[in-house]
Amino acid sequence: MSDITSPLIEVRQLSKHFGQQIILHELSFELFQGEFMAIEGPSGCGKSTLLSVLGLLDLEWQGHYQLSQLHVKNLHKRQLAAARNRHIGWIFQNFNLIGELTVLDNVMLPMRYGSFGSARFQQEKAKTVLESVGLADKAASYPHALSGGQQQRVAIARALVTSPGILFADEPTGNLDSASAAMVFQLLQQLNREGMTIVMVTHDGQLASQCSVRLKMQDGQILQTTR
Ligand SMILES: Nc1ncnc2c1ncn2[C@@H]1O[C@H](COP(=O)(O)OP(=O)(O)OP(=O)(O)O)[C@@H](O)[C@H]1O
Ligand SMILES: [Mg+2]
Repeated sequence: MSDITSPLIEVRQLSKHFGQQIILHELSFELFQGEFMAIEGPSGCGKSTLLSVLGLLDLEWQGHYQLSQLHVKNLHKRQLAAARNRHIGWIFQNFNLIGELTVLDNVMLPMRYGSFGSARFQQEKAKTVLESVGLADKAASYPHALSGGQQQRVAIARALVTSPGILFADEPTGNLDSASAAMVFQLLQQLNREGMTIVMVTHDGQLASQCSVRLKMQDGQILQTTR
């Protein structure tokens, strides 16, 4: 996505308001390719809002944001959609799988939009990614038949199937028991070792302490960034 010297994410003086309320206040930081960032802070401090801005879901903000050397403010609608589809993977606390679709069809979903090869190729790709998260045998199952940890691993497979350059995760272990949480986090660590850049919101200081960058927020501001 970008060369080794320039940041993958560069944020300068980024602010966001809802009416009179300041949600994000003059944030500045950067993230380099291959890093694993934890965003921490009390409930309501703006973590999910920041993630939505970084992941190009929220476009209502002021300031400067470069993603992979693209000036986000200058992108047209179609360029934004293309950047989202091609470069960004998402996982959420509640997995957001589609209950009416099999595991394999859930994983194939992101490839419906954009040019990701033939139907045959897409199915093979989805199977390979499912295998890489250890769930090849669940391809024909429906989400409700899986444990929370397994559902999150399906969601990770779905996020990875388009080979994004960066993965955004909003409290990915927040709804899991500790054993499943550990397994999901280990999978994220493995992906990061293989080169995936990850930005993860978490309330778990134990997990955050294992990330290469910690960004601590409070009241819409950055308290501290440590590497
Ligand atoms: N659509 C919205 N309209 C108005 N205010 C909002 C909206 N979404 C979020 N907020 C406010 O923005 C602030 C930050 O919310 P955000 O969801 O980013 O917090 P958070 O740090 O992710 O919290 P949590 O840890 O509980 O998930 C909160 O004060 C919230 O009430
Ligand atoms: Mg949140």
